[in-house]
Amino acid sequence: MNPSDSSQYTWAGRFSEPMSDLVKRYTASVNFDRRMWRQDIRASVAHATMLARQEIISAGDLADIERGMAQVGREIENGSFVWSLDLEDVHLNIEKRLTALVGDAGKRLHTGRSRNDQVATDIRLYLRDAIDELLPLLRQFQTSLLNLAEKEAATPLPGFTHLQVAQPVTFGHHLLAYFEMMQRDAERFSDCRRRTNRLPLGAAALAGTTYPIDRHFVAELLGFDGVCENSLDAVSDRDFAIEFCAACAMLMMHLSRLSEELVLWMNPRFGFIRIADRFCTGSSIMPQKKNPDVPELARGKTGRVYGHLTALLTLMKGQPLAYNKDNQEDKEPLFDAIDTVSDTLCIFAEMIAGITVNPEKMRDALAEGFATATDLADFLTRKGLPFRDAHATVGLAVRRAEELGVDLAQLPLAELQSFSPLLDEEVFAVLTIDGSLAARAHIGGTAPEQVLAAISRARRG
Ligand code: ARG
Repeated sequence: MNPSDSSQYTWAGRFSEPMSDLVKRYTASVNFDRRMWRQDIRASVAHATMLARQEIISAGDLADIERGMAQVGREIENGSFVWSLDLEDVHLNIEKRLTALVGDAGKRLHTGRSRNDQVATDIRLYLRDAIDELLPLLRQFQTSLLNLAEKEAATPLPGFTHLQVAQPVTFGHHLLAYFEMMQRDAERFSDCRRRTNRLPLGAAALAGTTYPIDRHFVAELLGFDGVCENSLDAVSDRDFAIEFCAACAMLMMHLSRLSEELVLWMNPRFGFIRIADRFCTGSSIMPQKKNPDVPELARGKTGRVYGHLTALLTLMKGQPLAYNKDNQEDKEPLFDAIDTVSDTLCIFAEMIAGITVNPEKMRDALAEGFATATDLADFLTRKGLPFRDAHATVGLAVRRAEELGVDLAQLPLAELQSFSPLLDEEVFAVLTIDGSLAARAHIGGTAPEQVLAAISRARRG
């Protein structure tokens, strides 16, 4: 009898008893790693192409493998492929079916290869593809931010520090802050892609292989930028996945901050914005409610993505070289991070596009916090008063305005002059919201013209 037929397990030759159902379920990964089937097939065909080129297998075997894999791919796509828990993972499921379809050529595919370098290759390919799909979603979200920022380039919003009114900013400027965060997030993903895009295949189980393989050729076939230089490292490390989750965690942190602001802004006490109804839900008991579920969930899911980063870091920290089965646990966190971030970006791109702004409410909020106090101090400084003294003088003026229940601009000139003789009629221009905004006209400043300039720079990319 052919030794590989003695059990359904390809590796069962030296085992004396079958695996219990519980252990089977516990150790199998096919239910979640099957989503790498495209990458698994692509990598296998590249490996076989190299084996044939190096005359390790025949041209006929390669043709069989290619034909068989095309068939396997079709079966998976149309849903007729039967995934079996008994076959543990995506790799063995596909190989078994290939062998059923093409016979011995299928059994030769695994020459000079191990599942250890195979899975490392699949997951790198998968992540690379995922990053390539993620970056346009990020770009889409950024475009939504830019569009809204352009519309609201001159709309005054209270800028907060400590969640207290600090200085006027434009809503456009505020949105562009998130655009910048997304720029860095995109850079992090691109950067991670570079380190992900190296070929582990050829490392075999851990030590390399005795066949005259050509790893550079396989790398080229699969679009990798190069090969992993050390076979032990190639099969062991998952730092690229950790790095990706770290970039996801950072991105989600940014989106979570935005979510928190959206939730505040749509609270009627603020009333700055409305989010389209399709991103909100009602309450089953309180008929009047409209809740900002989408931003709240994004804030919540941020915790989950942080969890994936922590899970992967912890997964790796105790592992001796080289491959350990622990690594099978890398997939679910990674996949879920990909899904969560993709969905969140898609939904945010749409949600931001559907925001309507209530500029009156923003202005009302600005009227309450002496938002132009710094402008008054700057005015005095321009007249020659040292800034620290100007700061103290304005402090007194604010106190007075507070007593009278008015804004700084509503204090009569005579009243203002009692704090400093340097003040004259010109000061009232400085105390207006629009004056305050327009005055911050340097690069990175909140003046509407600067916001527009930043948007056109961003659009030019
Ligand atoms: N399913 C395994 C994983 O995800 C594939 C590699 C298994 N290798 C092994 N020697 N058991 O990591």
